[in-house]
Amino acid sequence: TAVSALALSVTAQAAFASAGCDEGEIVIKFSHVTNTDKHPKGIAASLLQERVNTEMDGKACMEVYPNSTLYNDDQVLEAMLQGNVQLAAPSLSKFEQFTKQFRIFDLPFMFKNIAAVDEFQNSDTGQAMKESMVRRGLLGLGFWHNGMKQMSANKPLNSPADASGLKFRVQPSEVIKAQMEAIGVSPQPMAFSEVYGALQTGVVDGQENTWSNIYGQKFFEVQDGTTETNHGIIDYMVVTGADWWDSLPEDVRTQLSTIIAEVTTARNAAVGDVDAQARQAILDAGGVIRELSPEQREEWVTAMKPVWEQFKGDVGQENIDAAQAINA
Ligand code: LMR
Repeated sequence: TAVSALALSVTAQAAFASAGCDEGEIVIKFSHVTNTDKHPKGIAASLLQERVNTEMDGKACMEVYPNSTLYNDDQVLEAMLQGNVQLAAPSLSKFEQFTKQFRIFDLPFMFKNIAAVDEFQNSDTGQAMKESMVRRGLLGLGFWHNGMKQMSANKPLNSPADASGLKFRVQPSEVIKAQMEAIGVSPQPMAFSEVYGALQTGVVDGQENTWSNIYGQKFFEVQDGTTETNHGIIDYMVVTGADWWDSLPEDVRTQLSTIIAEVTTARNAAVGDVDAQARQAILDAGGVIRELSPEQREEWVTAMKPVWEQFKGDVGQENIDAAQAINA
């Protein structure tokens, strides 16, 4: 009927309009799991979208799907290999199925701050990591930073003993599981989008994440408080399908690669501010943040650092030494 034909054409137009892509443009779907506001990845992805859609208009078109609306991190890399999504920026902890090299980034107290992570990634070893999964179909285009990880739970955490016996959500990383087990915590791997509900209903007691994730996902609302442990990092690799990348016309690949590099430099330089703003936003919203004295923090180091030994074969002693030299 005319009515359903009209309804159909309205739906089709709506889909087309929301895509915002013109015929003939190469469509680049970018799927990620965080919020877009006050978040290093969310802001970087939005800026990338804006620049591609302005500067590459007529050639390429980017659609960003934040908040796990398209895929969660357990699905996105498979979807990329199938050609259903072209860009993602999962945390380095999510590449467990593809490489063991990234385990260095999950080792507790390996990097003293994000500047040290940046320096390590800019070394020859770090740069080579972007191409380490090409034979598995994935190519890294850059590293995006987030910040240092903190610990939260449904009770006050001052010493590691306070966490003993609790269940914590973890990213699907063997290193993070071992780190939690080292303090007597039972690690529960879970997709990021499920964490708030799991904390709220008591399926898990606690979690570790950065200020921007604790703020953006409102974890602080369903926890007793967050302890400023700065015990690890969350960092991302902007990743694409190697076949798709190779299939791009050279001018498109070059321009896209330049825009990604510029967005990476600009936003990585700003992550310290975004992190600090998210921390402050938690306090402003009434969240509790517990700071540790140097002696208290040393207890966490003593309890968790022994896991290095377990993973030294995967990550290479020379890489551990290189990371430590940067910290010094
Ligand atoms: C997590 O799963 O906790 C984080 O990796 C989410 C993210 O992308 O920051």
